[in-house]
Amino acid sequence: MSENRLGAIILAAGMGTRMKSGLHKVLHPIGGRAMLRHLLTTLDSLSVSRKVIVVGSSREQVEAEVADEAAIAIQEPQLGTGHAVLAARNAMADFSGDVLILYGDVPLTSKETLENLLAVRRGPVAPAVAVLGFRPKDPAHYGRLKVGADGGLEAIVEYKDASPEERAIDLCNSGMMAVDGAQLFALLDRVTNDNANGEYYLTDIVGIARAQGLKVGVAETAESEVIGVNSRAELAAAEAVFQNRMRHQAMVDGATLTDPVTVYFSADTKLGKDVTVGPNVVFGAGVKVSDHVTINAFCHLEGVEIAEGASVGPFARLRPGAKIGKKAKIGNFVEIKKADIGDGAKVSHLSYIGDAAVGRKANIGAGTITCNYDGFDKFRTVIGEGAFIGSNTSLIAPVTIGDGAIVGAGSAISKDVDPGALALTRAEQSEYQDWAIKFRARKNKKD
Ligand code: UD1
Ligand code: CA
Repeated sequence: MSENRLGAIILAAGMGTRMKSGLHKVLHPIGGRAMLRHLLTTLDSLSVSRKVIVVGSSREQVEAEVADEAAIAIQEPQLGTGHAVLAARNAMADFSGDVLILYGDVPLTSKETLENLLAVRRGPVAPAVAVLGFRPKDPAHYGRLKVGADGGLEAIVEYKDASPEERAIDLCNSGMMAVDGAQLFALLDRVTNDNANGEYYLTDIVGIARAQGLKVGVAETAESEVIGVNSRAELAAAEAVFQNRMRHQAMVDGATLTDPVTVYFSADTKLGKDVTVGPNVVFGAGVKVSDHVTINAFCHLEGVEIAEGASVGPFARLRPGAKIGKKAKIGNFVEIKKADIGDGAKVSHLSYIGDAAVGRKANIGAGTITCNYDGFDKFRTVIGEGAFIGSNTSLIAPVTIGDGAIVGAGSAISKDVDPGALALTRAEQSEYQDWAIKFRARKNKKD
């Protein structure tokens, strides 16, 4: 039954007190995406058919995030990781495939690592339990993995319960496992809380399985794959790991990042080929960049699509709903919001374009502002193809500038302009000969 092949239980009932947050720990974002969402996305890529999230306090927050994508099991009170998995028993009833046990606060484990773990569980030895281990730089208080002569896992010893010799072992428990779903709950039923913490340890199923003559295997992974988040500092460390992965992937996929460590991505950022990103660029959520686009230094982009060959910045701010056409140019100190900038159009300097459509090859002069808001409502500005808007123009929306029209510099345009017309609003210039000379002479005499 392929539908039953893979399930997952995500433990997220811990209090997360060290975050000192009103937001459930697993909902804190990394790359703009909730930690829990990272895990669910990875599980989707593995075609996991049954997902259960074990929650305790603030469960309504988790429910709101996952909606009907996963079952929610309640663990109340929290008596340990083994007790937490048991809370998923009803939700996993009649499931007999392999079960991945994951941690909501260990969000960056890749598909490949989980596949390697599953490969051990499904390999020739077919152990009832496969545990994901790693060798941290600082083994600290992680549980230690005791591997036998045959390469199988004999036991996991929690740091508090470990002897000095056991503490010297550098292979540690990530907490993640792949377990035969047909045996998981029977093994858990035998776990007791007879240990230094008085908790029901999930890790005890290893020793219990061995005592029953079952095999237990180990898969090893890198520390960065199992990075856990218990505090804001660890959240920042996880963010750094994630950002480095995104930067690396962007370059693998054919983008040039002039100074990668200064570029920040969102989990959903999409970059095409031969895209160049200068230093200090921030990608907020929902950015799609096509091939051959250049994003110069110090730009901030969010909710924007940029078509082929366009150029943006330096120092541009593209806000949600901005669509930049092919070979369009957005220059320095330009802000664009909810606006379509047509192919080949130019907004080169110091402008605000919001709630607008700018036609193909239109040229928007320096300092042009779409006045889109009257304090209550938003209004739209439409600029035709090939129109030329002179510098320092206020376009007072709602207003339409026809195709090919020219607006004189310094105008405040509040009425529609016909295609091909010239429109300008400008007071006549007065000039007084020698006025300045006489003025200065008068003032200087007084001193
Ligand atoms: C656990 C492992 C340890 C491993 C370490 C890796 C056990 C007994 N120990 O220890 O071997 O090296 O993870 O980080 O499993 N949780 C619940 N309900 C509970 C208790 C915990 O849902 O009653 C969840 C927490 O939200 C957290 C995860 O389980 O996501 C791990 O719990 P935690 O208390 O951090 O386990 P450790 O003591 O770190
Ligand atoms: Ca922990």
